[in-house]
Amino acid sequence: MRIAVAGATGNIGALTATALERDGHEVVRISRALGVDLQTGDGLDAALTGVDAVVDAVNAPAMGLDETIAFFGATTRNLLAAEARAGVRHHVLLSIAGLHRVEGNAHYSGKREQERLVSEGTVPWTIVPATMFHDFAEMVADGAEKEGVARIAPLLIQPIAPADVAAVLAELATGAPAGRYVDVAGPGTQDLVDMARRTHQKRGRAVELVPTWSAVFGPSMAGEVLLPGPGARIAPTTFEEWLAEQK
Ligand SMILES: NC(=O)c1ccc[n+]([C@@H]2O[C@H](COP(=O)([O-])OP(=O)(O)OC[C@H]3O[C@@H](n4cnc5c(N)ncnc54)[C@H](OP(=O)(O)O)[C@@H]3O)[C@@H](O)[C@H]2O)c1
Repeated sequence: MRIAVAGATGNIGALTATALERDGHEVVRISRALGVDLQTGDGLDAALTGVDAVVDAVNAPAMGLDETIAFFGATTRNLLAAEARAGVRHHVLLSIAGLHRVEGNAHYSGKREQERLVSEGTVPWTIVPATMFHDFAEMVADGAEKEGVARIAPLLIQPIAPADVAAVLAELATGAPAGRYVDVAGPGTQDLVDMARRTHQKRGRAVELVPTWSAVFGPSMAGEVLLPGPGARIAPTTFEEWLAEQK
């Protein structure tokens, strides 16, 4: 099959493109650095020529609520319209488990808009809600770090290895549209602060971590809201196995 990966230079997009090629598929890589801008639509029609399925693993920069909704709205509308013109038969969206239980988070609001457009669109679809990735804690702590101190929330999550997410996306993109797929999660629960501490240790970085619910993530993300729902698909790689492979 010929499959386009939007966000193919990113964390999950790059791994998904590699997994698809390993399975013998032809991959079209889409990103601004590769000459296609989903916000303007520039280069999109040419990129989707002859494409059977599209995986959307695009990400928005950290912005306010309205800007994030506008970003995911524009990129998704442009992608779906170009897919309809090109006769693409399957749109696979990487989304977030627990998305509909969290209010007031800009990124989650943008992702909800993305899900709405995909599920109301004309291109047959699969939405894949994944839990946070094993590198999420480090990403959050890096974003929050000021003068050697990072204030981050002690989120209870069940993280998944990026390569496991990519394997699921590659598998689903080559199958029939499945609508809303079950949550996809890793094998065990973790505390975000503890994950960040262990990742920093592994990298030899000294960062003071201060647990708080008044930084990026508020109390609406406390408790079990981010954990996978019933019947979730559990991927194999533990946080410890992933961490052991980090440099
Ligand atoms: N982090 C988590 O724990 C987690 C958990 C569940 C789901 N997710 C979801 O996973 C998705 C992918 O995340 P990620 O961490 O893999 O992303 P990432 O590493 O930040 O990569 C983002 C990709 O999007 C591309 N991109 C950004 N703006 C674009 C534009 N206007 N046009 C075309 N391409 C554009 C980037 O390439 P260029 O810069 O070259 O354009 C890059 O390839 C996100 O939607 C996120 O919500 C994340």
